[in-house]
Amino acid sequence: MLRNNPARIARLARTVRRGVVWQLLLFTAIAGVITTLMALYPHWLPATASEQADRIGDVFWFVTIICAAIFAIVAAVLAYSLWTFRAPRDDNFETDGAPIHGHTGIEIVWTAVPFALVTAIGIYSAIVLGKNDKVGENPLRIDVTAQQFAWSFKYPQHQNLAATTLRLPVNRVVRFHFTALDVLHSFWVPEFSQKQDTVPGIDTWLTVTPNKTGKFPVVCTELCGLGHAVMRSTVIVMEERAWRRWVAGAARQAGGGGGGGAEAGKAIFAQNGCGACHTYEPAGSNGKVGPDLDKLSEFAEDAGQPVEEFTRNSIVDPNDYVEKGFPPNVMPPFESLSDQQLDSLVAFLTEPKGAS
Ligand code: CUA
Repeated sequence: MLRNNPARIARLARTVRRGVVWQLLLFTAIAGVITTLMALYPHWLPATASEQADRIGDVFWFVTIICAAIFAIVAAVLAYSLWTFRAPRDDNFETDGAPIHGHTGIEIVWTAVPFALVTAIGIYSAIVLGKNDKVGENPLRIDVTAQQFAWSFKYPQHQNLAATTLRLPVNRVVRFHFTALDVLHSFWVPEFSQKQDTVPGIDTWLTVTPNKTGKFPVVCTELCGLGHAVMRSTVIVMEERAWRRWVAGAARQAGGGGGGGAEAGKAIFAQNGCGACHTYEPAGSNGKVGPDLDKLSEFAEDAGQPVEEFTRNSIVDPNDYVEKGFPPNVMPPFESLSDQQLDSLVAFLTEPKGAS
């Protein structure tokens, strides 16, 4: 009888234990391979295009590897237990396992290991956060204005050049400064990995060092109203030289030839993102959030106002007269435009069709 032979019991237990270890290792390996494939193969995240995004990606992989390893071990123990300790067919739930009360060694291990891992993740993340916020010697400052439902960008170090498409030189630290004119918005370029809320009354900042040339979307990632889904722009990351050429050209255009009129109005229409919400053929825009500006003269007639006055008033005080079928409080008042800019914009919107 086994019962009377302690030496044989010990030998048997050793063999069983060795078998268990091998089975567990096999299960862990299988679960590990499946998890690794899951982590690698669907490309969960977009390709990165900034130094900060690369560092964030490293933290992401560090955490993913730890999680995958823990998952594989847990899945293996679970699978082994389900397989080995399942109740036999004729079991009437009468056979119970031996009661176990605590195991100091295991408890120390399962406290110490997570402590070490979480601490390591915390330290690594803090280092990356610190590096990502480093501004360096000569950052390119960009002032970003968010408003329903458009982004606009200004280059204060380059004669306050304004644009609705963001152009950045590659490999230079960019320091974004955000202002919101109406409600909360959030600046997000998926390839840059970072998001920054823009908050009315609060200045917010973000540091990005683009390290790949190309064209990427600028997305508003905070529900901000009816036109939230169309509040998008583009960032074009260029070679340093090409970017300098563009800045010089754009600055010259903005400085010279500033005679105002409809031509200048077209630029103001584009810079203020009017096309995101409004259809207007001469501007080539097809926004659907607000009224179709090709029908502006009809709207003015319905409102019983001269078209120039009606247009000017609708830009400065949009809630004064709201076109039928459109909700109020969607268009923000564009009070920041100078009188001259306003004149040009009105001229652009009211000029006879086909004039420009
Ligand atoms: Cu702005 Cu959503």
